[in-house]
Amino acid sequence: MVFIVPFILIAYAVLYALAESVLPIADSQEQRQLLLLQEPTIPSPSSRFQQSLDDWIQDEEEIALDRLLANIAPNGKNVADAAPGSVIASPSREHPDYYYQWVRDAAITISTLVELYAEDPYDDLSSKLLRIVQDYADLQAKIQHVDNISGRYDDLSGLGEPKFHANGSAFNGNWGRPQRDGPALRALALMAFVRAYNASHPSLWASNERDKFFKPLYNPVLPVDSTIKADLEYTSHNWRYPGFDLWEELPGLHFFTAMVQHRALTEGAALAAAFGDPGAAAWYTLQAHSIQATLLPSFWSPQKHHLIETLDAPSRSGLDCAILLGALHGTSKSPTRSPSPYPPHAPEVLLTLLAFIRDQRARFPINSDPDTGAETENPDILAGVALGRYPEDRYTGYATAPDGGNPWFLCTAAAAEILYRTASYLTTTNSLHISPLSAPFWSHLLNSTGSELEGTYEAGTPVFEAAVSALRGAGDAFVRTVGRYTGRRGGMGEQFGRVTGEGRGARDLTWSYGAFVMVGRARRGR
Ligand code: NOJ
Ligand code: NOJ
Repeated sequence: MVFIVPFILIAYAVLYALAESVLPIADSQEQRQLLLLQEPTIPSPSSRFQQSLDDWIQDEEEIALDRLLANIAPNGKNVADAAPGSVIASPSREHPDYYYQWVRDAAITISTLVELYAEDPYDDLSSKLLRIVQDYADLQAKIQHVDNISGRYDDLSGLGEPKFHANGSAFNGNWGRPQRDGPALRALALMAFVRAYNASHPSLWASNERDKFFKPLYNPVLPVDSTIKADLEYTSHNWRYPGFDLWEELPGLHFFTAMVQHRALTEGAALAAAFGDPGAAAWYTLQAHSIQATLLPSFWSPQKHHLIETLDAPSRSGLDCAILLGALHGTSKSPTRSPSPYPPHAPEVLLTLLAFIRDQRARFPINSDPDTGAETENPDILAGVALGRYPEDRYTGYATAPDGGNPWFLCTAAAAEILYRTASYLTTTNSLHISPLSAPFWSHLLNSTGSELEGTYEAGTPVFEAAVSALRGAGDAFVRTVGRYTGRRGGMGEQFGRVTGEGRGARDLTWSYGAFVMVGRARRGR
């Protein structure tokens, strides 16, 4: 025994070290068993979090930011041959090949970096981030002009193209195109940059350097010759038309897409007004109102009591992590800038979250298998559940297969972010209103019976305080779930296996790291 124990420990240490770079895929039952034997890479929550959760999150945020930056050219170590300013989805060049710049992934990533820049524009990190964002902005201006299978620049149809090669050239393979969330997300990233840069260079606006800096980003002239305005024109003229969803599989009208389009046009109207473009401001406002009044309400299903991601998609339940992402990315953190129809704390979003968690908990074996660390002794489904994209998902991370569909890091993190942001909403408004609609969520969270809870609770009342701490606790449980499946050195790919929790799909996914950075911020109320 004395000899065996150290041997086992060494063997484990070696396997841990290997596991992250060469995560094998278990195809057969036999291989899976072998994996289980070789790879106790999923430590129990207690051993994983011997450090406090706070310390672990702090470490992991640093790792996540580091690895995210490694996927951005020109200085990222994984992307030496990519055009400056390109944000690569993952360094994985085969099985699967994610060595491309997706407009969506890149824009979401840059929005995160702009948030970090805005917070402290003069520190060392920020000077690095500023260069990255400027390179990104320059490259996007070029990419908008690249003819591609979705179309061209002169009528703006080419802006619906979802992905480009690392060098900025068009990708000419078969793909789910167009995808109409990309231009809206890019406009949001660049508008945030305009605001942040303007705030950190207060004399610029009144100086004669102003045009040189801002004109390539926003210029009122038509035909369009500036990046943000091109994206806003595209969005305002195309939101009624179907396109592929963010998962690149289903054509139609989608909640996620409509939410980010609505936000882009609302913020776009304010930006247009600031740039002396009142006609555009009125047009963007009109279109945003129209999305809010005519399109967005149709995603609520009174029969199902939750939002659905895609209209007229009978093969789908409609439950989808994209709804969480739509609430997060479609909602400004400054509510006065653009009020959101479905912010994270909206009753409809919280009910959808609850229904989605219920589904995913039952769907994935790791969510009820004590060997993989699921907290089975706690029957509370808000106790942290690994979440995937949507119930009918068959994507393994490499191909589509009948036993595909795994939990995703960014979806599990999105649940935590919704919960934290709801807690922050309560503590900034100092009031919790529980309506008949939202009662099922709050009664689940507070372990109480629905109708008893209806009412309004001010800060300081027991119900209010219990709600805030339960939201934070539930958020922490989802972050712990993310932590449980994170690689030993802090690595996060796209997915983790539904049965044993091993890493699956593209390694070092830029978006997974960005989602983690965002959840850490949301936990601190940022
Ligand atoms: C790759 C896409 O990016 C992914 O979202 C999709 O699920 C698979 N292809 C299968 O269509
Ligand atoms: C597949 C995801 O479904 C899609 O949303 C993403 O843009 C690409 N992978 C790249 O990460």
